[in-house]
Amino acid sequence: MHRLNNKRILLGITGGIAAYKSAELVRHIRKAGADVHVVMTPAACEFITPLTLQALSGNPVHTTMLDPKAEAGMGHIELARWADVVLIAPASADFIARMAAGMGNDLLSTICLATKAPIYLAPAMNQGMWLDSATQKNCTTVMERGIKLFGPDEGYQACGDIGPGRMLDPDVILGCLVKYLESGLLAGKKVVITAGPTKEAIDPVRYISNHSSGKMGFALASAAAEAGATVTLIAGPVHLPTPDRVARVNVVTARDMHAAALEHTEGCDLFIGCAAVSDYRPESIAEAKIKKDPNNPEQALELKLVRNPDVLASVAAKDDRPFMVGFAAETHQVIEYAQNKLKHKNLDLIVANDVSDTTIGFNSDENAVTLVGPDFEEPLPKCSKWQLAGQLIDLIARYYNDIQQSSVQVQTQVQPSVTTEYSTDENTDHAPENPHS
Ligand code: C5P
Repeated sequence: MHRLNNKRILLGITGGIAAYKSAELVRHIRKAGADVHVVMTPAACEFITPLTLQALSGNPVHTTMLDPKAEAGMGHIELARWADVVLIAPASADFIARMAAGMGNDLLSTICLATKAPIYLAPAMNQGMWLDSATQKNCTTVMERGIKLFGPDEGYQACGDIGPGRMLDPDVILGCLVKYLESGLLAGKKVVITAGPTKEAIDPVRYISNHSSGKMGFALASAAAEAGATVTLIAGPVHLPTPDRVARVNVVTARDMHAAALEHTEGCDLFIGCAAVSDYRPESIAEAKIKKDPNNPEQALELKLVRNPDVLASVAAKDDRPFMVGFAAETHQVIEYAQNKLKHKNLDLIVANDVSDTTIGFNSDENAVTLVGPDFEEPLPKCSKWQLAGQLIDLIARYYNDIQQSSVQVQTQVQPSVTTEYSTDENTDHAPENPHS
């Protein structure tokens, strides 16, 4: 299973005989779906060659601070920003001491100072060095700064001693890493999200649109990628940067969005319709700019508008329909309208958004919503759209995973040979038990 899908792991290797195990660790991390950049101290290069790590990681290995070529490509600050996690395995007594002292005298130690990512150390050293009070004090110091230690293990050591100080086995280190990393709740899932407004042309210079900024949908795409999903973001015309690890498809009109959604939901597990799609478009687009009559100030302009396709309902009507989440932006009777939409659009969940409050929702950086399911409502109080997106993806993913699991149980318990959709009865049992856990 790809439990580290989309994660960026910076693996630091310091000088110790256990460095040979790091080669195996790189293989495990890549197999778990993560991207790895290896940074080696000069002492580490005495134990294992950078070439080995380059071949296994599929990325260039970084060894020196003052390499002008490396600094132009991916320098220490860029590496520090790139990493979701810094894992140092093996972490030697000397390296832990330098970290405890806050030193930045090689590439790896400067990255540790510069990064905001969590840092994990897998110590590896002779048992006497590990038990020495200086090492113990250094470990306490780094742990007080929030750095976590994996191990060390006890047993036979390369020097012939027996005792604590062995580096944990690579598969055990991988398990520790997975445990500490984010949920992975959508690992291996394909998620398609629509975001932003659409624009419907009236003539070559005018259009009908709405106030959607796209911020909520972009934040959801980012949170879904963080949770391990492969994300396609179908974006209306907005000037927002594409979130990391998200594939973006730009569209302008509702009909473009409709076509893109039908195309990209092939094999899709989860669809989130966050876009504010124009319900109507002008029946025809004037070929030239529509001119007003300067002699007739009373002149009215009549536009005939026709309905646009409903993107969400069309995806929900597909035979291989993904799990469907919609948004309901309402100014009154918010929950009631959302519940109706849930049924009429054949959705699994809907996010009810009160847009009568101008401090949240459209164009704002903050939002407050209620996640509505067939038999539950979960209010999510006002916070930044980025925080809210994380909470929503967490709740949606847990609910989705519950439904998938119960579907599998129904298949095996009731009629093993028949593909069984989850029944409506089953459906009622899946309000998230403790959505904040
Ligand atoms: O019907 P209403 O526009 O209120 O429904 C809102 C939900 O439906 C949102 O999730 C929006 O993305 C989706 N929608 C759509 N296509 C439309 C209109 C709305 O996908 N033409």
